[in-house]
Amino acid sequence: MTQVDIQAEVTSPRHVAIIMDGNGRWAQRRGQPRLFGHRAGAKRVREIVRACPDLGVKYLTIFAFSTENWKRSETEVTGLMSLFRRYITKEARALVEEGVRVRFIGDRGRLDKKLIKLMNELEEMTAHNDHVNLTIALNYGGRDELARASQRMAQDIASGALQPDAVDEETITSYLDTSILPDPDLVIRTSGEMRVSNFLLWQSAYAEYDFIDTLWPDFSSEVFADVIARFSGRDRRFGTVKPAAE
Ligand code: IPE
Ligand code: IPE
Ligand code: MG
Repeated sequence: MTQVDIQAEVTSPRHVAIIMDGNGRWAQRRGQPRLFGHRAGAKRVREIVRACPDLGVKYLTIFAFSTENWKRSETEVTGLMSLFRRYITKEARALVEEGVRVRFIGDRGRLDKKLIKLMNELEEMTAHNDHVNLTIALNYGGRDELARASQRMAQDIASGALQPDAVDEETITSYLDTSILPDPDLVIRTSGEMRVSNFLLWQSAYAEYDFIDTLWPDFSSEVFADVIARFSGRDRRFGTVKPAAE
């Protein structure tokens, strides 16, 4: 292990989650329709996934479409759905070859059958990879995830498979879409908005946040590396007091 590897292990966020925001404004500034920005945004994803191993990031979770994004115009929603289908079809081979394990979180119920099929296939095709874990949040909302988890938990209690007094934090975690993922260490939001917009509410209880002005289509691997370097300087306390300050 080189010095750089050791450094990366000690200070890198193991799990980074990104709210990829600002595609619409990026397009508007160029006098283009919003979908032009979404296409540019999708192109950035590959570069960011590829940058992860060198930055010591083992898990990357990206917010692609929220449960609230259905409120957008039909043109935008339809365009995004077809972009997701094209993205999976086009990127599948590179993701398999580069050792990326892809998972999807969110409610698949409202997505079209063709897209669901592509999502399932990509998950299967990459199931044996473990170089980088890419999780794509598609029709995802933190509250929706908790509601769906609660429904399943209630069913298990009703059937006797789960005892009410056995429900603790770990039980709740195990019913979430993210059950097998570690909690995010760092949540990045691009485009200058300082809000969480229903992303990984339970999981981010102790995440560090970084809000940057860069619009998502301009989020290069250099900008990513800067954000990771800033994270390394954070003092994560998890509610405790450092021995020196006692
Ligand atoms: C983020 O970019 C992508 C999605 C929410 C699908 P936006 O489309 O929200 O871009 P802005 O915020 O309008 O600039
Ligand atoms: C959050 O961005 C969702 C995604 C990035 C997919 P939005 O642009 O939808 O969030 P708000 O509406 O500004 O809060
Ligand atoms: Mg936005």
